[in-house]
Amino acid sequence: MQGAPKEMVMGEVYKVPTAWSRDSLCNLADYQRLYRQSLEDSDTFWREQAKTLKWDKLPTRIKNVSFVDPVSIKWFEDGELNVSVNCVDRHLKDRADQVAIIWESDDPGVDRKITYRELHEKVCRLANVLKDQGIKAGDCVTIYLPMIPEAAYAMLACARIGAMHSVVFGGFSPDSLADRIDDSGAKLVITADAGVRGGKHVPLKANADAALKRTTQQPRLLVFNHAGTAVEMVSGRDFDATDLMAEASPFCEPVAFNAEQPLFILYTSGSTGKPKGVLHTSGGYLLYASMTHRYVFDYQDGDIYWCTADVGWVTGHSYIVYGPLANGATTLMFEGIPSYPTISRFWEVIDKHKVSIFYTAPTAIRALMQQGDDPVRRTSRQSLRLLGSVGEPINPEAWRWYYRVVGDERCPIVDTWWQTETGGILITPLPGATDLKPGSATLPFFGVDPAIVDGEGRELAGVTEGNLIIRDSWPGQMRTVFGDHERFVQTYFSTFKGAYFTGDGARRDEDGYYWITGRVDDVINVSGHRLGTAEIESALVAHEAVSEAAVVGFPHDLKGQGIFCYVTLQKGIEPAEALRKELVAWVRREIGPIATPDIIQWAPSLPKTRSGKIMRRILRKIAANEFDNLGDVTTLAEPAVVEELITERRTF
Ligand code: PRX
Repeated sequence: MQGAPKEMVMGEVYKVPTAWSRDSLCNLADYQRLYRQSLEDSDTFWREQAKTLKWDKLPTRIKNVSFVDPVSIKWFEDGELNVSVNCVDRHLKDRADQVAIIWESDDPGVDRKITYRELHEKVCRLANVLKDQGIKAGDCVTIYLPMIPEAAYAMLACARIGAMHSVVFGGFSPDSLADRIDDSGAKLVITADAGVRGGKHVPLKANADAALKRTTQQPRLLVFNHAGTAVEMVSGRDFDATDLMAEASPFCEPVAFNAEQPLFILYTSGSTGKPKGVLHTSGGYLLYASMTHRYVFDYQDGDIYWCTADVGWVTGHSYIVYGPLANGATTLMFEGIPSYPTISRFWEVIDKHKVSIFYTAPTAIRALMQQGDDPVRRTSRQSLRLLGSVGEPINPEAWRWYYRVVGDERCPIVDTWWQTETGGILITPLPGATDLKPGSATLPFFGVDPAIVDGEGRELAGVTEGNLIIRDSWPGQMRTVFGDHERFVQTYFSTFKGAYFTGDGARRDEDGYYWITGRVDDVINVSGHRLGTAEIESALVAHEAVSEAAVVGFPHDLKGQGIFCYVTLQKGIEPAEALRKELVAWVRREIGPIATPDIIQWAPSLPKTRSGKIMRRILRKIAANEFDNLGDVTTLAEPAVVEELITERRTF
């Protein structure tokens, strides 16, 4: 099992503060009652919850799901709604002048506040621009933008006209962008001249130009001028988005779409092949994102809520844009990084905007923890009342530091476990209901029915450890892999019949609390970013010097997991430091900086079974410096290979 927190202190409990169980949206009795109802009388539960959205046609059919052949997932299938109306228009009556989005620029002297009224106008104008560009319901629009409000406008403008968006993280390379444009068949790409992070420019438009040189698909480009850098515009293909928005009408009549209208595709890494396009649809996704946002973060009027994720990841989709805006919240969007211009930046932003709910990733917490308490202590943070964590297991040491230093022992921490595929949070404390244990994501959210099974799919009862599955559907679940339903079925529903397989391992303790131990497949989690080892391997073997490569994760103090590559060179090519550097740069260029290898070890050959399968289990152990405990090695074709790798590993 990869990435398990080093220590799991099972006895340590932080009780729900009395004020929280009194004043929050959900206390323990509420949780227990609603949770039971959500499983025992699921239709009634979700029918009731669905009323928190604005429907043009209220659904009468609640759930229509099969996890066995033919796998099919539908929620609220005869309901009709418009997602952008739910996130924007319906708030105009009571909160038109309330701030919807606080934008904090990379430059600490620059911010912007966008009210719901302004958000409505921007979304309408951009939706009209999309229509003028010929975009229709069902078409796909790729969004390759920095963390600026225009990213939210673009997502909501697509939703308004029933187009799907595919947001591609600004840190991805031109090649990765090109693959995603082609796979989704995007008709249009929305980008900016450049992003700004830590005072440096990220050349998005140039990357998009490079991507379009190799795509089959030839979409047009809408370009926002954000950083004021010079870009080349291709006549007839590229258009200035700000100019077009200024000319467009400020009103766009919303159209009602079926609840199962595709809302977005988001590419994510799996254990095999290229990243897959996770497809989410409208009604179920929006209900689940908004409901989890409300309950997990106890969002109440007047809160200022900040999720530090990027909109290029699912956390940004569900918990910067869709969930908060559907709840009429004030959501903060930050363009920069935690260490610029100073390592107090997060805490300064919290003080500046009086943030009350703060949601970030363990990797950021660990990096900031390394800098000591002073950069935090010199800020006030009195506005904070709740902290959240997402993306990877949080080690108890980081949890305690987050609790003690950042939250001044005043703020509960919600450790939220979920995935791109799940659309929203599945296992999490509710801050007014759940006693906390550092390192545990605790208990399932409403409607979520987890179980732990062994390798043969036998359910394990009570205190146990094994593979985490979810036995039944919830509204935010992905519906398919875009363009490849068979891959959807194979990936998630074939390992354990009749259940959704998460790819994660988990432990369950005597209180029924879940402790996520990390991925059990060939996916690694580097600084909360999910990467398929197969993707990195195929980037490596695309280099002419490489004959074979095997990539595994290894424990890394800051990143959670690091990227460890075993590389076998072509005959006649000698290992050299310059080549090692070249391969690191090569992978960065092929996939993006998040995939930068930490360690490349030359491997004269790789350990294989007699049938030729690489024994990754052994490679993981060697990478982790665990030589005494290699497990069963009797199926190895050439045991000497392992000795060679261990000898080499000991040298660094
Ligand atoms: O291994 C789990 C880990 O992140 C994976 C999902 O990654 P992704 O689809 O990129 O979504 C990240 C944001 C939801 C999971 O399979 N993971 C996510 N949250 C946690 C976590 N592991 C432990 N604890 C968490 N709170």
